Amino acid sequence: MRKLSLVHTPAWTALLQHHGRMGKQHMRDLFAADPQRFNKFSLIFKNILFDYSKNLITEETLKLLLDLAREQGLEQWIKRMFAGEPINNTENRPVLHIALRNRSNRPIRVAGQDVMSQVNGVLRRMGAFCDAVHSGQWRGFSGERITDIVNIGIGGSDLGPAMVTAALRPYAKPGIRVHFVSNVDGTQLAETLKVIRPETVLFVISSKTFTTQETLTNAHSAREWFLRTASSEKAIAKHFVAVSTNQAEVEKFGIDLHNMFEFWDWVGGRYSLWSAIGLSIALFLGMDSFEELLEGAHGMDEHFREAPFEQNMPVIAAMLGIWNINFLGAQSHAILPYDQYLERFPAYLQQLEMESNGKSVTRGGESVDYATGNVIWGEPGTNGQHAFFQLLHQGTPLVTADFLAPIESHNPLGEHHRILLSNFFAQTEALMKGKTEAEVRAELEGANLSQERLEQLIPHKLFEGNRPSNSFLFPKLTPWTLGALIAFYEHKVFVQGVLWDINSFDQWGVELGKQLAKTILPELQASGEVSSHDSSTNGLMNYYKRIKRI
Ligand code: F6P
Repeated sequence: MRKLSLVHTPAWTALLQHHGRMGKQHMRDLFAADPQRFNKFSLIFKNILFDYSKNLITEETLKLLLDLAREQGLEQWIKRMFAGEPINNTENRPVLHIALRNRSNRPIRVAGQDVMSQVNGVLRRMGAFCDAVHSGQWRGFSGERITDIVNIGIGGSDLGPAMVTAALRPYAKPGIRVHFVSNVDGTQLAETLKVIRPETVLFVISSKTFTTQETLTNAHSAREWFLRTASSEKAIAKHFVAVSTNQAEVEKFGIDLHNMFEFWDWVGGRYSLWSAIGLSIALFLGMDSFEELLEGAHGMDEHFREAPFEQNMPVIAAMLGIWNINFLGAQSHAILPYDQYLERFPAYLQQLEMESNGKSVTRGGESVDYATGNVIWGEPGTNGQHAFFQLLHQGTPLVTADFLAPIESHNPLGEHHRILLSNFFAQTEALMKGKTEAEVRAELEGANLSQERLEQLIPHKLFEGNRPSNSFLFPKLTPWTLGALIAFYEHKVFVQGVLWDINSFDQWGVELGKQLAKTILPELQASGEVSSHDSSTNGLMNYYKRIKRI
């Protein structure tokens, strides 16, 4: 029997009616009417403050949103994920990134087998390997120490480690540099090879499937470059390690299986930084910091599993997202870290959210008749303020935003950090309050303008405000805090997937382009005109071939 669409459920209907009753409320008035608004709509998890009071909600909105979560069986879904049930229904797999950081070692079973001994076994091997590299016991073919780690991987096998190593640079082990090569555009590898030496490099080939075209192409080119200097193929064992679930393909590539760090198909690519995919993180920061990252994520997992919805940070954030997207019409969500070290955080969350919830059929295969995942993007503050904030303040689309900042900087420098934070606070206030006509008029009246000029300028200087944002403050960007923040977003995405009745853990949408590229490559290599595609694709390919004289 066809499941009742989300939009026809009682809780959704109640929310729709509530939305109608709210009419054209302004957050400015909601704040003015209730001095307790911040206290009511904020919570602290360990050392992370989550202020969601600058959303267009009332206590009733929140109650109805949590009713909807309950009505959609969220409690059971959380239990099912943590119990290792195969909730990734299109691939028939459990979703157990939470097991990778299960520091309590509570048994988690897949097909009756506790996975914790495998998880801890790989962590121990990673630790021993990192120790060997850091102590200089592991050396390159010429006897020199390893100084440069090059992670070759793409998507989840790149973005997590790239983001975390950038974010936690202050914790880096001395004497180790880390580089990331993901793009099949040879430029990225070529530029990396310019700054490393074969004698002192360690390539970490990271790929869950070990069949990804970009990663394999980069890995083969790195191998050729390496062998041009290294005396023999035997040297590869000292300079290439693999992280994968696919032993056969790793062997085929020529990597010694002693140098392979495994993980499992119940770890999704974009949820894999906690697995051996985090090897380049552990090599760069040390295993202690990597484990602290796991601890932070585990702390958030326990909070998510145990806290009542009313105090549950990922649940509340997810439900606010549903409100903003499905009831207020937001199509885009900006991630705005006021911390330069979090420069790659928006890109990381782009994959996490958009690959997970960019879906338009339900788990049962029906087309959805409501909006699902939205567009995620962003830049560190204050840079974004001088680029795209104009649209956030006065543009026609409704863009919601997460602002994140540490209270302490790793680099205290004069008044820099206080200036940075003053901008963070000011932007959330401006987005919420806006500027009324009376305020603009009062400001312009002191500016000695003609009446005509004043009237002309007023509409341009108005800010409607009422633009929702969340704020996150934490003491300092440590491995623990970063782990907790990433896990927070993972669970937020999971909750939204449950609510929208979609499978957040597959990614069939990336397949078509991959298939077509495989057909096109031999056509680009062969001589003669191409005619098997539409006229645009043929035209583009033939133009390329004419210029290249193929
Ligand atoms: O193309 C999408 C994707 O499958 C991602 O989900 C994944 O993170 C990435 O490619 C890389 O895959 P792999 O780790 O198997 O190389």
